[in-house]
Amino acid sequence: MSLRPSAAKAVGPRHPVALAPSLLSADFTDLRAACRLAERAGAEVLHLDVMDGRFVPNLTFGPLVVEAVRRSTDLFLDVHLMVQDPDPLLAAFRRAGADGLTVHAEAVVHLERTLESIATLGARPGVALNPSTGEAALDYVWDVTGLVLIMTVNPGFGGQSFLAPVLEKVRRLRAEAERRNWPGHLEVDGGVDPHTAPSVVAAGADLLVAGSAIFGQPDPVAAAAALRQAAAAWTAAR
Ligand code: DX5
Ligand code: ZN
Repeated sequence: MSLRPSAAKAVGPRHPVALAPSLLSADFTDLRAACRLAERAGAEVLHLDVMDGRFVPNLTFGPLVVEAVRRSTDLFLDVHLMVQDPDPLLAAFRRAGADGLTVHAEAVVHLERTLESIATLGARPGVALNPSTGEAALDYVWDVTGLVLIMTVNPGFGGQSFLAPVLEKVRRLRAEAERRNWPGHLEVDGGVDPHTAPSVVAAGADLLVAGSAIFGQPDPVAAAAALRQAAAAWTAAR
């Protein structure tokens, strides 16, 4: 399947494109070294994947590990909560040092209230959408959302294949964000690599999560540079 969007639909990002290496593919025996690599790679953000074994069929880590990462780096900690009913845990993740807390629209009952709680805790509220979730989930919460995370794989594991049909949703969300003059970030997560990045950016994403394409490579710093270079070629993908 071609990843190339049609010229008419390519809109591109509003902000300069930023990289968010996902710690999920890093060496967990040395998280401090992983943080150093992300810093040396010029990452703008560090992406932390919290999985609960319920919302997704995998378990990762909780606030204790986020706190250890916090003590290892000053990078913005972008915490992606793949957690069913995350409300009771939000304060603990914020105390641990999360700068952004992103919840799945599918995992909360009162999305607006959850986003308000995150803002009250002093973190950036984010909404994540599974590949099969429509963008209408955002309809009444744009004003309390600082980031929209668009999953381009079904969440739960690193190293999965990019779901190209989701590019259409990225384009729609970018158009809606422009229409509303919304100042937040559109983040894409899952299967982002130098091959898929130009189409992702051409569709309007400005924050790229990458696990295997960065930490899964022999030289993560060089891999991040290659990804950034590919992302910068998005105009060529139009
Ligand atoms: C998957 C996680 C991702 C994951 C991406 O559920 O949300 O952040 O680390 O991994 P890659 O980049 O390998 O697809
Ligand atoms: Zn993630």
